[in-house]
Amino acid sequence: MSSLFSVKDKVIVITGASSGLGCHFAKTLAREGARVVMCARRLDKLRVIAEEITKEGGIAMTLELDVKNGASVKKLAPAVVSQFGQIDVLINNAGVDARKNLFETTEMDWAPVVDTNLKGVVFVTQAIAAQMVEKKKGGSIINISSVSDLLAFKGGNPAYMISKAGISHFTHLLALELASSNIRVNAIAPGVFRTEINADLFDTDISRMLQPKIPLLKFGQLDDLNGALLLLSSDASRYMTGTIIRVDGGLGINKL
Ligand SMILES: NC(=O)c1ccc[n+]([C@@H]2O[C@H](COP(=O)([O-])OP(=O)(O)OC[C@H]3O[C@@H](n4cnc5c(N)ncnc54)[C@H](OP(=O)(O)O)[C@@H]3O)[C@@H](O)[C@H]2O)c1
Repeated sequence: MSSLFSVKDKVIVITGASSGLGCHFAKTLAREGARVVMCARRLDKLRVIAEEITKEGGIAMTLELDVKNGASVKKLAPAVVSQFGQIDVLINNAGVDARKNLFETTEMDWAPVVDTNLKGVVFVTQAIAAQMVEKKKGGSIINISSVSDLLAFKGGNPAYMISKAGISHFTHLLALELASSNIRVNAIAPGVFRTEINADLFDTDISRMLQPKIPLLKFGQLDDLNGALLLLSSDASRYMTGTIIRVDGGLGINKL
């Protein structure tokens, strides 16, 4: 990897690292020499992944975190700083989906999705950004939004789609708020990648209908996210803030 995209020794906090994209981000960044802090509710899963990383010679710390819970979030920054002394990058990746349309959605469905995907991101960011500002060394915050931040279709899931639209807009707001502290804030908006969040949709009529609508005609593979991930985690993106990078095979600009 060219030194322009180097993440060597950077301390990178990743929420939702126990599966899917977050697990992939942790492994990829650790392989490139970053010190990764893997957070999620399922500590057992995090420990297995951290062990794999350590076996490969990487550095990984695990932390139990429920982004919906203020008391849990409060412990995050002090725990990372006491282990590594600094935080260079935060990846707000934890997310859930209720997959209910407007008329099916109840308050019980709404709350966990919006609390995880939106409230969780705001308060995790508040805690970590305060730490970055205090250290005066700048930093990078990467929000994992979604192609659904803009994509609208009949039968869509309001809780998830609104939460992702909120994250993309929060990216703009936060970029302005933190620019004077040299903290860059950008987002990645993935298209469709097979993970725990959507595994049940693959090999169904829905996925068979969706695939031909993707201009590049295929679902994403986790490695397809590496370019955007390394760009935003490294100093290669030093003059980028408030940007949303779409890694979606063109899905977001196509009409369903
Ligand atoms: N896969 C896709 O096609 C796709 C497309 C666009 C955007 N995304 C976004 O990518 C992100 C990762 O999703 P994924 O596809 O990798 O799904 P996933 O495999 O289900 O991963 C979700 C992660 O979020 C964590 N999480 C959920 N609630 C949490 C909470 N309250 N506190 C802390 N961690 C929590 C889960 O860990 P625990 O259960 O252990 O807490 C898990 O590690 C999400 O924000 C999702 O919206 C995914």
